[in-house]
Amino acid sequence: RKMNVAIVGATGAVGTQMIKLLENSSLPLGTVKFLASKRSAGKQLSFKGEAQTIEELVPDSFEGIDLALFSAGGGISAKFAPEAVKRGAVVVDNTSHFRMDPTVPLVVPEVNPEALRNHHGIIANPNCSTIQMMVALEPIRQAFGLKRVIVSTYQAVSGAGNRAIEELAQQARDFAAGKPSDEWKAAILPAGGDKKHYPLAFNALPQIDVFTEDGYTNEEWKMINETKKIMEDDTIKVSATCVRIPVMSGHSESVYIETEKTATVAEIQALISNAPGAVLEDDPSQQIYPQAINSVGKKETFVGRIRKDPDEEKGIHLWVVSDNLLKGAAWNSLQIAETMYEMNLFE
Ligand code: A2P
Repeated sequence: RKMNVAIVGATGAVGTQMIKLLENSSLPLGTVKFLASKRSAGKQLSFKGEAQTIEELVPDSFEGIDLALFSAGGGISAKFAPEAVKRGAVVVDNTSHFRMDPTVPLVVPEVNPEALRNHHGIIANPNCSTIQMMVALEPIRQAFGLKRVIVSTYQAVSGAGNRAIEELAQQARDFAAGKPSDEWKAAILPAGGDKKHYPLAFNALPQIDVFTEDGYTNEEWKMINETKKIMEDDTIKVSATCVRIPVMSGHSESVYIETEKTATVAEIQALISNAPGAVLEDDPSQQIYPQAINSVGKKETFVGRIRKDPDEEKGIHLWVVSDNLLKGAAWNSLQIAETMYEMNLFE
């Protein structure tokens, strides 16, 4: 049967990518609805070459909708996802709002598709940095076991939305025009909801989202908690340092892992080569390694710089890169919906 689909946050950085991916989706599409704030209502977007009018998001927007993809902020999901479910829609939510709710599946289709069977209308899309790390680590976990993960991220600005992208672009123009950095405008980064704002251009900010009392940021806790939920193993030790860098799109991660059984570099490389959703780019002799700039527009997660820790027998280092707007957000969300369709989970 045909699927009527709504995109919530259709004008946003992620929503825009959702629309592009939906144009080429394997889902049998019925009607498609683009929802955003009152500010955007009445404007037009193109879908499969035809103009489509953006509507204001209201509870009744979801009448007759089978699938709603949400990416308009946690507050919007909190309020409107239950309204969509009440009207019979399945919600795939890209915000962090429902992720740790024990009744809500948190899914990376390459890792835990079976969790989709337990859904009650809402499925959560994990954090962008978590998703790409799961694609790289799940095949290693399956073959060699996973005891510990220590990750440092180098995250692109598009994860913070269109206004953050524009903020970085303006700072770069100010730099090129010779304006001193204390005159650059910073109103959003590192975190829209926090008190102070700093320039990102030619900088590195070790803060994504707000701090919790223990010295970690919310983004770091997302990587820690979501890893355990997706891999269904609370015993994996996880720690994260999340850093925003002046890259437009494409998150990079330095990942250190300790496995249960000893693995060789060649064995890890072979696992990544065969892993769904992963691409091995690892040839130091030819300077081949994943780069953020090359990941843009691609659905895969790229893995390289695989090497043994010099001291720890079961320690391995990897460099993991993916387009945060695609596998990290829009593609993983749509892939969840396509997987559910294949598993006959609508109704
Ligand atoms: P709008 O463009 O009308 O403000 P980004 O992540 O790039 O910042 O985008 C956020 C998305 O969430 C946009 O599509 C934005 O729509 C949407 N959004 C923000 N506030 C609301 C709201 N109150 N109701 C519906 N959509 C909203």
